Amino acid sequence: MSMLQFDENGARHILRLYATPDVVQQRARVLALLAAQPGERVLDIGSGPGFLVASLADVVGASGAVHGLDQSPPMNAVARDVIGTRPWARIDDGDAVELPYGDGAFDAAVATQVYEYIADIPRALSELRRVLRLGGRALVLDTDWDSVVWHAADRQRHRRVMAAWEEHLVHPHLPCTLPGHLRRARLRVTGRHLIPLFNSSFEPNTFSALNMEMIAQFVSGRQGLTDEDVDAWMADLRERGAEDDYLFSVNRYCFLAVAE
Ligand SMILES: C[S@@+](CC[C@H](N)C(=O)[O-])C[C@H]1O[C@@H](n2cnc3c(N)ncnc32)[C@H](O)[C@@H]1O
Repeated sequence: MSMLQFDENGARHILRLYATPDVVQQRARVLALLAAQPGERVLDIGSGPGFLVASLADVVGASGAVHGLDQSPPMNAVARDVIGTRPWARIDDGDAVELPYGDGAFDAAVATQVYEYIADIPRALSELRRVLRLGGRALVLDTDWDSVVWHAADRQRHRRVMAAWEEHLVHPHLPCTLPGHLRRARLRVTGRHLIPLFNSSFEPNTFSALNMEMIAQFVSGRQGLTDEDVDAWMADLRERGAEDDYLFSVNRYCFLAVAE
């Protein structure tokens, strides 16, 4: 069965999920780690809702340029709205494994939560390396779905749900292999950073509450999970919230590298 679709419904969900304070603080860390400078040319691969493109555009200013690239037309429509009137920023249609840019076109490039959806990592990273100038910076961030801690009373059902959720992408455990992949693509790793997302209570505008809805929609009918199983899983988590013993965390792993 298919992976998570970045269609109109998916784009709407991602827009809400990535506007939560949890993901806002993640982007702030990413921006600080990339340390883009005024006048630089920066590429955001798999730019999704375009929030990072907008922030990068504000940093590089009109003397620089920011390109977001994504293969999903609904995502790109959302992103074009989000970046608004910043003429030095643009959103391009395209595939991360065949970037429509010349060699050495960028000073820096980022790909956050994207490569985990792409089967051919060596090809995607060789494209990332190709479009960077010598000495240019790359920042790659992905999740290991083994890093999730989520308090459910029925742990067995919870494990079944999370196992089915792993089908939403190609590589649910990509981060541990990224340093090796980057090195082989002539990208020298210069930084390794952990960015946790942590919800200590059940609130509507949080990563875990909104992700729970995406997970529920996705896993229903997979690996033998019925709608009733999934409803019961959500009710279980909501009860933890109501009883004030809610706890959720997931880790993002972020790698910085320099083009050699
Ligand atoms: C989970 S979203 C992350 C969006 C954005 N990078 C962020 O962190 O806000 C993943 C994005 O990667 C895009 N994507 C997946 N495979 C891609 C590919 N081969 N080429 C370009 N974009 C891709 C999807 O369309 C989606 O917008």
